[in-house]
Amino acid sequence: MSTEAVAKHPALMAPTQDSQINGRLLLHDLRSPINIGMILRVAETFRFRVAIYDPSGVLDDPARSKTISDFACGALQRLGYARIGSAGELDALGRTGRLIGMTIEPPSVSLPEFDFRRSDIFTVGNEYDGLPADFVARCSLNVTIPMEDVWSPKPKSHSPIDPGRNRPVSNDGKPNLNAAMSAGILIYSAFQGLRG
Ligand SMILES: C[S@@+](CC[C@H](N)C(=O)[O-])C[C@H]1O[C@@H](n2cnc3c(N)ncnc32)[C@H](O)[C@@H]1O
Repeated sequence: MSTEAVAKHPALMAPTQDSQINGRLLLHDLRSPINIGMILRVAETFRFRVAIYDPSGVLDDPARSKTISDFACGALQRLGYARIGSAGELDALGRTGRLIGMTIEPPSVSLPEFDFRRSDIFTVGNEYDGLPADFVARCSLNVTIPMEDVWSPKPKSHSPIDPGRNRPVSNDGKPNLNAAMSAGILIYSAFQGLRG
């Protein structure tokens, strides 16, 4: 199956009562193909489905698509993802379950307190800026993986995800996790929570 064919698979984001599916993840403007590939891999492992909103066109770049494929370790070809092509499709997706923003900012529910539902849609934000404020405002709830208050400013990268960017990352210095790492922790917690 080609990458393009799986990318357009519409059934992946339908609301489901299927007990074989543990939840859904929406990637909101992620720029790193490594992160996207790693998330596809961990999502497949714990029976999550993935949708990708990609206004900057990472998915359309052949070189970055190959990196996604490499880091997905076959999950791209086996399950793929649903591509959310417009703000309207994003709205439609948000009507199929609770939209949950993954964020480091309050107000949010701490992950150990979160009451998981299989129809939830957890949203991972951009590596530099997180989720836009207007998107967070539309979410039913936000969730935070609790962290220690370690001051951790980000130094300049040798090979930045977005070479054209000059501004510092949002909330620079505030503790935060890598996007794929956050998705992995969330997905595993959901897997454990749903098993009771
Ligand atoms: C590298 S972080 C973005 C950090 C960004 N500077 C900010 O201010 O949000 C990328 C994404 O990972 C997720 N994330 C990172 N740490 C998290 C945490 N402790 N709890 C929940 N989500 C987290 C969020 O979705 C975030 O948008």
